[in-house]
Amino acid sequence: MATAMPAPSTIVGGTNNPVQATTNAPASAGLQLPPAPASTNAPRSSYSSVHVNGPYIAMTFDDGPSAALTPRLLDILKERHIHVTFFVLGQMVKAHPEILQREIAEGHEVGNHTWDHLPLTKVVSIEGGLDREIGNTSALIKQVTGNAPIFLRPPYGATNPRLSRAIEKQYGLKVILWSVDPFDWKDPGPQVVEQRILSGWKESGGVKPGAIILSHDIHKGTIEAMPATLDALLAKGYKFVTVSELLAMENKTPITAGTPLQPPTKSTN
Ligand code: NI
Repeated sequence: MATAMPAPSTIVGGTNNPVQATTNAPASAGLQLPPAPASTNAPRSSYSSVHVNGPYIAMTFDDGPSAALTPRLLDILKERHIHVTFFVLGQMVKAHPEILQREIAEGHEVGNHTWDHLPLTKVVSIEGGLDREIGNTSALIKQVTGNAPIFLRPPYGATNPRLSRAIEKQYGLKVILWSVDPFDWKDPGPQVVEQRILSGWKESGGVKPGAIILSHDIHKGTIEAMPATLDALLAKGYKFVTVSELLAMENKTPITAGTPLQPPTKSTN
């Protein structure tokens, strides 16, 4: 039913997307050059990865909860003490609120993925559309878990800076995209899902510190890929955090080239 599509090239704001310089202004002498691009300290409209000073990554699963598959995934995660972020659909939560409650009880984070998985760039032009897709889903998540979500992942990654900012202002939800996309919804088989997450493919980079990895807990092949994928990432030294933990670690200071990645010194306070 609900499948992701390729991340649109309009995605902005991620750390993988360098700020576009204005290059099409005529270079005539005496012409006032346009102002420099917005300060990199300006709030971002969306996040597809984060600058961190350590081997931290966020695994995310969309389109559930699935009665058949999400409990299996939760078992796999529990065995490895891994916390992830689930971007859930309102219609699926309505059908399986107990699975959402289990996700929260086991330390995972839950974000809004709309009610019906419609592209928000189209929904926005329908009167009341965002309230039905976003507002209703946040309300149901709050009713089931006691807390309203703080993140939204737009279906198909379909958003733009203006829409993302409006969603944050109106619904209090930061828009979360991704930097690693294994296209697991196309059911390429567990080994291929694993290889694409670890090494990347096409325009989707493989895992690196600060990555946000997209997957779906409604596809059998994805769940079957997870034990080996997660074990390989753990073996490489990666540490799994939720999206809010990853965003909280964002380090505005670029990592010096050649500096080995080390987890931050643990505070004694
Ligand atoms: Ni989706």
